[in-house]
Amino acid sequence: MKIFQASNEIKDYLFPILKDGKSIGFVPTMGALHEGHLSLITEAKEENNLVVCSIFVNPIQFNNKEDLKKYPRTHETDIQKLKSINCDVLFMPSEEEMYPEAPTETFDFEGLNKVLEGKFRPGHFEGVTIVVKRLFEIVNPTKAYFGIKDYQQMLIIHNQVKKLGLGVEIVPCSIIREENGLAMSSRNELLSPVERKQASILYETLKWVKIRSGFATIEEIKQQIRLQFKKNKFVELEYFEIVDMYTLKSLNRWAESNNIIACIAANVGNVRLIDNIILFS
Ligand code: PAJ
Repeated sequence: MKIFQASNEIKDYLFPILKDGKSIGFVPTMGALHEGHLSLITEAKEENNLVVCSIFVNPIQFNNKEDLKKYPRTHETDIQKLKSINCDVLFMPSEEEMYPEAPTETFDFEGLNKVLEGKFRPGHFEGVTIVVKRLFEIVNPTKAYFGIKDYQQMLIIHNQVKKLGLGVEIVPCSIIREENGLAMSSRNELLSPVERKQASILYETLKWVKIRSGFATIEEIKQQIRLQFKKNKFVELEYFEIVDMYTLKSLNRWAESNNIIACIAANVGNVRLIDNIILFS
């Protein structure tokens, strides 16, 4: 596996490959790699001539300084994991490399950055979009792979790529879960064994919603969920929303949309977790 830190060096390496008409699959990450990340790379390997993974803990997408400080960094094991699945290229830029000057770009998100995660993490999607756009400019991928675990992120990137004409195909990838249903996340490393067990309530709740979707009213479902979470002293519900998959508009009635996703965020101890389930599409 080739490892690059400098953007001009990785660009020089990839240029002849693209010129030859070969396809580049790209998987941007923040490291602390787990099976979820690796599944994206495996899918990219199947569909492209060469796969590039990036690891960069992007400071400008963290609205909380503590969260950035405690974000797990496991570079050596990450490199071993990437080698074990034959990832071709790893890009690990420094902060100075990505941001020689403070970024000032702005984007029109048409409101998608103000709801769900955006409401609780102001500035988060602006930071994500800036870094992903810069990474795309450096790697020039044919296809880029994003997990629908971060559904709102995938949708926002998909829309911006279209709007800005970046010419990258965004491939949404399914959520990989731990045995108890908990969606894999780098942040799971920060949970105690008890918290990890309790965190399965997120997916349990989503499965429970899926069974009732279309039958119970949305308000009844929301009320039940608020009650269930009140009883759990380990997990504090931040939001639960049933929204249209494309506008992310919160729904009051099932008939308002044919494409519906349920999204949840909760704090388990000091660790913030998110998950979702597609109800209708
Ligand atoms: P990170 O949280 O490291 O995630 C990198 C990619 O892995 C994202 O597309 C995410 O949705 C996907 N992923 C994470 N957990 C997953 C799981 N359990 N199953 C499937 N896919 C999963 O998302 C980011 O980094 C950053 O915001 C980034 C896009 C790299 C920009 O900094």
